[in-house]
Amino acid sequence: MSQATFIQRRIQLLAQMQAHGGGVAIIATAHEMTRNNDNTFPFRHDSSFYYLSGFTEPEALMVLIADGTSQRSILFCREKDLEREIWDGFRYGPAAAQAHFGFDVAFSIESLATEIPNLLADAANLFHSSGVDQKLDAQLQCWLNEVHAKSRSGVHAPDQTINLRGLIDEMRLFKDSSEIAMMQKAASISGQAHARAMRAAKPGLFEYELEAEILHEFRRQGAQSPAYGSIVATGANACILHYQSNAAQIKDGDLVLIDAGCEFDSYASDITRTFPANGKFSPAQKTLYELVLAAQQAALACAHPGSRYMDGHDAAVRVLTQGMLDVGLLDKNKVGSLEDAIASNAFRQFYMHGTGHWIGLDVHDVGSYREQDKVGKTRPYRKLEAGMVITIEPGIYVRAAEGVPAEYCNIGIRIEDDILITADGHINLSRDTPKTVAEIESEMKQ
Ligand code: GLY
Ligand code: MN
Ligand code: MN
Repeated sequence: MSQATFIQRRIQLLAQMQAHGGGVAIIATAHEMTRNNDNTFPFRHDSSFYYLSGFTEPEALMVLIADGTSQRSILFCREKDLEREIWDGFRYGPAAAQAHFGFDVAFSIESLATEIPNLLADAANLFHSSGVDQKLDAQLQCWLNEVHAKSRSGVHAPDQTINLRGLIDEMRLFKDSSEIAMMQKAASISGQAHARAMRAAKPGLFEYELEAEILHEFRRQGAQSPAYGSIVATGANACILHYQSNAAQIKDGDLVLIDAGCEFDSYASDITRTFPANGKFSPAQKTLYELVLAAQQAALACAHPGSRYMDGHDAAVRVLTQGMLDVGLLDKNKVGSLEDAIASNAFRQFYMHGTGHWIGLDVHDVGSYREQDKVGKTRPYRKLEAGMVITIEPGIYVRAAEGVPAEYCNIGIRIEDDILITADGHINLSRDTPKTVAEIESEMKQ
């Protein structure tokens, strides 16, 4: 992504700050997290900090200043340090970072405590997202106290704190062309990883061996990491929504549910496919698979500008619930008509999650799902618009229970794709991942 893209985003945010009366915004990256002793978890920058800077080092913070006449963006980052660079690798240092990332000025992170109170003095407003980073919240309070303490000498502290997150989240919700290219790349790699796992699958392997196929394809193609913990769940494990152990042996006749997506250059993908371990769907598996596929088609038909966020879910629920009645998972004599079964949430015995979420820099990405203004007591779900990216991921999860036909017990199926809303409909970013019964069985023959 070009320097100009990040500069443009800062300009856009500064303009919004100005429209809110101007002031100073403080945006920090994530902290390094200790795993144990002197080992840290792999560092992942804060997504909003990255979105506005392109800067991926830890220990960094940016200050944006919109004071009516002038606008400035300031970066605080680690100093160059040959000793640390021998151990941990390259760091830009303020001078090179300022030039490379297009900031007006850059300081050492060590100078935060002296610089920030000066920058906050006489600012109209403070723009900050509190509650995200408790350490920063506490530091900011100290710096504000310092500014307040100077009030007798005529220094004025910011009048109010304005929630910065709302402004940035709304920008991040609409993906620009460079972001879409990155998300397409992430989805394409993940799709190939799923196809690889399908080709490798056979009864007798362990779930983690298929996870290894997935991870191999991610890294082989340059994706930095998974965007979330991969789920490889066979048989009854597929009915555990957040199954993570991936430790069971795959049995003949099992379905395998894989929910895995890579992160490529900070952008997530999130794909689920479900396939038969032995390469051929049984009649009962095929019946439920086709039902989930039909539910996804119904939700996809709502993926266009003007539909509301929840329309796809409602459409999927309608198809799934009708299917549950048709195949006898739900007993008409107990739950009544289709409308009754939807109204009473009877379908939730077998479909208990939502049908999708925003996706972008984070797998569960930021952005409000509802409109700003209330109609009556609630705010309606917002309408989809071009540039938004959502997942569409209906499923069915049949745990053994009284009255549940034995042939369907322990089947868990989810089908998930990443969908870019366009001016005239949508583009399925994960379209090349085998999905129909015929496509999956053919992929698995290879
Ligand atoms: N993999 C997480 C999700 O599907 O939302
Ligand atoms: Mn998923
Ligand atoms: Mn998802």
